[in-house]
Amino acid sequence: MNTNRLSKSLAAALNTQMTNEARASEIYLSFGAWAEHEGFSGIANFLFRHAQEERNHMMKILEYILKRGAEVQVSAIPAPPENPKSVHDCFEQIFAHEVDNTKAIYKIVKMSLEEEDWATWSFSQWLVQEQTEEETLALNLLDKLKIAGGAKAGSESLYTLDRDLEQSPDDATLAQDVTAENP
Ligand code: FEO
Repeated sequence: MNTNRLSKSLAAALNTQMTNEARASEIYLSFGAWAEHEGFSGIANFLFRHAQEERNHMMKILEYILKRGAEVQVSAIPAPPENPKSVHDCFEQIFAHEVDNTKAIYKIVKMSLEEEDWATWSFSQWLVQEQTEEETLALNLLDKLKIAGGAKAGSESLYTLDRDLEQSPDDATLAQDVTAENP
Protein backbone atom coordinates (compact mmCIF):
# COMPACT_ATOMS: atom_id res chain seq x y z
CA MET A 1 0.00 0.00 0.00
CA ASN A 2 1.36 3.40 -0.97
CA THR A 3 1.26 5.66 2.07
CA ASN A 4 3.09 8.54 0.39
CA ARG A 5 0.67 11.47 0.19
CA LEU A 6 3.02 13.83 -1.64
CA SER A 7 3.52 13.88 -5.41
CA LYS A 8 7.06 13.41 -6.69
CA SER A 9 7.26 17.03 -7.82
CA LEU A 10 5.96 18.50 -4.56
CA ALA A 11 8.22 16.26 -2.50
CA ALA A 12 11.17 17.46 -4.61
CA ALA A 13 10.14 21.11 -4.25
CA LEU A 14 9.74 20.78 -0.47
CA ASN A 15 13.10 19.03 -0.17
CA THR A 16 14.69 21.86 -2.18
CA GLN A 17 12.99 24.38 0.10
CA MET A 18 14.51 22.61 3.09
CA THR A 19 17.96 23.28 1.58
CA ASN A 20 16.95 26.89 0.85
CA GLU A 21 16.10 27.40 4.52
CA ALA A 22 19.35 25.73 5.59
CA ARG A 23 21.24 28.08 3.26
CA ALA A 24 19.34 31.07 4.66
CA SER A 25 20.50 29.96 8.11
CA GLU A 26 24.11 29.77 6.86
CA ILE A 27 23.86 33.26 5.38
CA TYR A 28 22.60 34.74 8.67
CA LEU A 29 25.28 32.80 10.52
CA SER A 30 28.04 33.96 8.20
CA PHE A 31 26.88 37.60 8.19
CA GLY A 32 26.49 37.45 11.99
CA ALA A 33 30.11 36.33 12.35
CA TRP A 34 31.16 39.15 10.01
CA ALA A 35 29.17 41.71 12.06
CA GLU A 36 30.71 40.49 15.32
CA HIS A 37 34.18 40.70 13.79
CA GLU A 38 33.44 44.28 12.70
CA GLY A 39 32.44 45.15 16.29
CA PHE A 40 28.65 45.24 15.75
CA SER A 41 27.64 42.84 18.49
CA GLY A 42 23.99 43.95 18.46
CA ILE A 43 23.62 43.27 14.75
CA ALA A 44 25.48 39.97 15.22
CA ASN A 45 23.13 38.97 18.03
CA PHE A 46 20.14 39.69 15.80
CA LEU A 47 21.61 37.74 12.85
CA PHE A 48 22.63 34.74 15.00
CA ARG A 49 19.15 34.51 16.43
CA HIS A 50 17.70 34.67 12.98
CA ALA A 51 20.02 31.90 11.78
CA GLN A 52 18.32 29.73 14.40
CA GLU A 53 14.88 30.75 13.16
CA GLU A 54 15.80 29.67 9.62
CA ARG A 55 16.84 26.28 10.95
CA ASN A 56 13.46 26.06 12.63
CA HIS A 57 11.83 26.67 9.22
CA MET A 58 13.94 23.90 7.74
CA MET A 59 12.86 21.51 10.52
CA LYS A 60 9.21 22.43 10.08
CA ILE A 61 9.38 21.50 6.37
CA LEU A 62 11.29 18.31 7.17
CA GLU A 63 8.60 17.31 9.66
CA TYR A 64 5.87 18.06 7.12
CA ILE A 65 7.49 15.89 4.42
CA LEU A 66 7.76 12.99 6.88
CA LYS A 67 4.22 13.51 8.14
CA ARG A 68 2.93 13.11 4.58
CA GLY A 69 4.78 9.81 4.19
CA ALA A 70 7.38 11.06 1.70
CA GLU A 71 11.13 10.76 1.81
CA VAL A 72 13.42 13.48 3.15
CA GLN A 73 16.61 14.11 1.23
CA VAL A 74 19.21 16.15 3.05
CA SER A 75 21.40 17.83 0.44
CA ALA A 76 24.63 19.80 0.48
CA ILE A 77 24.11 23.46 1.36
CA PRO A 78 25.58 25.93 -1.14
CA ALA A 79 28.13 28.22 0.53
CA PRO A 80 26.94 31.64 1.69
CA PRO A 81 28.05 34.68 -0.34
CA GLU A 82 31.20 36.62 0.50
CA ASN A 83 31.18 38.89 3.52
CA PRO A 84 29.19 42.10 3.09
CA LYS A 85 31.13 45.29 2.37
CA SER A 86 29.18 47.34 4.91
CA VAL A 87 26.16 47.20 7.23
CA HIS A 88 24.11 48.69 4.40
CA ASP A 89 25.29 45.97 2.01
CA CYS A 90 24.57 43.34 4.67
CA PHE A 91 20.95 44.47 5.15
CA GLU A 92 20.37 44.85 1.40
CA GLN A 93 21.64 41.32 0.74
CA ILE A 94 19.42 39.95 3.49
CA PHE A 95 16.35 41.64 2.04
CA ALA A 96 17.18 40.38 -1.48
CA HIS A 97 17.65 36.88 -0.12
CA GLU A 98 14.29 36.93 1.66
CA VAL A 99 12.57 38.06 -1.55
CA ASP A 100 14.19 35.15 -3.44
CA ASN A 101 13.01 32.78 -0.73
CA THR A 102 9.48 34.14 -1.00
CA LYS A 103 9.52 33.46 -4.76
CA ALA A 104 10.57 29.84 -4.12
CA ILE A 105 7.71 29.43 -1.64
CA TYR A 106 5.19 30.96 -4.06
CA LYS A 107 6.16 28.21 -6.52
CA ILE A 108 5.23 25.59 -3.91
CA VAL A 109 1.89 27.35 -3.31
CA LYS A 110 1.22 27.35 -7.07
CA MET A 111 2.18 23.70 -7.46
CA SER A 112 -0.02 22.62 -4.57
CA LEU A 113 -2.93 24.57 -6.05
CA GLU A 114 -2.45 23.02 -9.50
CA GLU A 115 -2.18 19.52 -8.01
CA GLU A 116 -5.14 20.18 -5.70
CA ASP A 117 -3.00 19.04 -2.78
CA TRP A 118 -4.92 20.99 -0.17
CA ALA A 119 -2.84 19.71 2.76
CA THR A 120 0.32 21.15 1.20
CA TRP A 121 -1.57 24.26 0.14
CA SER A 122 -2.64 24.76 3.75
CA PHE A 123 0.90 24.12 5.02
CA SER A 124 2.31 26.54 2.45
CA GLN A 125 0.07 29.30 3.84
CA TRP A 126 2.14 29.10 7.02
CA LEU A 127 5.29 29.51 4.91
CA VAL A 128 3.80 32.52 3.10
CA GLN A 129 2.81 34.11 6.42
CA GLU A 130 6.29 33.53 7.79
CA GLN A 131 7.90 35.01 4.66
CA THR A 132 5.76 38.14 4.89
CA GLU A 133 7.07 38.63 8.42
CA GLU A 134 10.63 37.94 7.31
CA GLU A 135 10.47 40.48 4.49
CA THR A 136 9.00 43.06 6.88
CA LEU A 137 11.79 42.37 9.36
CA ALA A 138 14.45 42.85 6.66
CA LEU A 139 12.69 45.99 5.41
CA ASN A 140 12.61 47.37 8.95
CA LEU A 141 16.38 46.90 9.15
CA LEU A 142 16.80 48.91 5.97
CA ASP A 143 14.38 51.58 7.23
CA LYS A 144 16.27 51.94 10.49
CA LEU A 145 19.51 52.24 8.59
CA LYS A 146 17.96 54.81 6.23
CA ILE A 147 17.13 56.99 9.23
CA ALA A 148 20.72 56.53 10.43
CA GLY A 149 22.02 57.81 7.06
CA GLY A 150 21.71 54.79 4.75
CA ALA A 151 24.91 53.80 2.96
CA LYS A 152 26.55 56.94 4.39
CA ALA A 153 25.59 56.26 8.04
CA GLY A 154 28.29 57.54 10.39
CA SER A 155 29.87 55.51 13.19
CA GLU A 156 27.74 57.21 15.87
CA SER A 157 24.45 56.34 14.13
CA LEU A 158 25.66 52.80 13.47
CA TYR A 159 26.55 52.49 17.15
CA THR A 160 23.02 53.51 18.16
CA LEU A 161 21.49 51.10 15.62
CA ASP A 162 23.71 48.32 16.91
CA ARG A 163 22.63 48.95 20.53
CA ASP A 164 19.01 49.06 19.41
CA LEU A 165 19.25 45.66 17.71
CA GLU A 166 20.96 44.18 20.76
CA GLN A 167 17.73 44.68 22.66
CA SER A 168 15.27 43.68 19.94
CA PRO A 169 13.32 40.52 20.75
CA ASP A 170 13.27 37.57 18.41
CA ASP A 171 11.20 34.38 18.34
CA ALA A 172 14.19 32.08 17.97
CA THR A 173 15.88 30.46 20.93
CA LEU A 174 19.65 30.36 21.23
CA ALA A 175 21.31 27.08 22.19
CA GLN A 176 22.43 28.48 25.56
CA ASP A 177 18.81 29.42 26.41
CA VAL A 178 17.51 25.89 25.92
CA THR A 179 16.63 23.88 28.99
CA ALA A 180 15.25 20.38 29.55
CA GLU A 181 11.86 21.94 30.43
CA ASN A 182 11.98 24.31 27.46
CA PRO A 183 13.72 22.41 24.65
FE1 FEO B 1 12.85 30.99 6.32
FE2 FEO B 1 13.89 33.85 5.94
O1 FEO B 1 13.02 32.39 5.25
